[in-house]
Amino acid sequence: MKVVLASKNKHKLEEIRQITDKFDIELILQSELGVDIDVEETGTTFEENSLIKAKAVMEATGLPALADDSGIAVDALNGEPGVYSARYGFDESLDDWGRLLLLLKNTEHVPDGQRQAKFVCVISLVMPDGKVIQARGEIHGELTREARGEGGFGYDPIFYYPPLGKTTAELTPEEKNAVSHRGNALKVFYEELKERLYADK
Ligand code: IMP
Repeated sequence: MKVVLASKNKHKLEEIRQITDKFDIELILQSELGVDIDVEETGTTFEENSLIKAKAVMEATGLPALADDSGIAVDALNGEPGVYSARYGFDESLDDWGRLLLLLKNTEHVPDGQRQAKFVCVISLVMPDGKVIQARGEIHGELTREARGEGGFGYDPIFYYPPLGKTTAELTPEEKNAVSHRGNALKVFYEELKERLYADK
């Protein structure tokens, strides 16, 4: 099945493709179809935003479209930055590294033992007939006090995953996919997809 990815984030593409390659899904980029849409993420939940992005790309291409909306939620900040992770601080001069430093600064006061955080990912597939498949994945860990590791992207260097004793930036891509919010969401998604395809036959 050919599916258009509603994202321009190269890191996400690599992570998603590694997993969808194992399934019967051929991921196509918007750019390969000459489509270039930046959808405004006006939702207040990962579910809403991922659906908004997938729907817009399906409508523009006429093909099934897959979108991921993800972010980091910090317990001590009541779940912030959450859906605003990519825009944390609402300061356009900040890049990923600047936002990571801002999150460290804003959690300086949070004592060890209370630094729990999670990454959340919601995957949506919107079919040309309007059918939707959605799946959510999470990974639970803790915020470190300094960046560690060269892998991954975004907030990975400050997200410590206790079961492996490393930040998600210190994991290999395979290790990260095996435990990550995105990997988990894609596994749930694929199970759902198989069930639906079977049910539609
Ligand atoms: P969006 O899903 O494109 O709206 O943005 C998600 C934002 O959350 C990214 O820009 C990252 O800052 C953060 N994020 C999502 N997934 C990950 C991950 O796997 N590692 C680190 N940061 C992530």
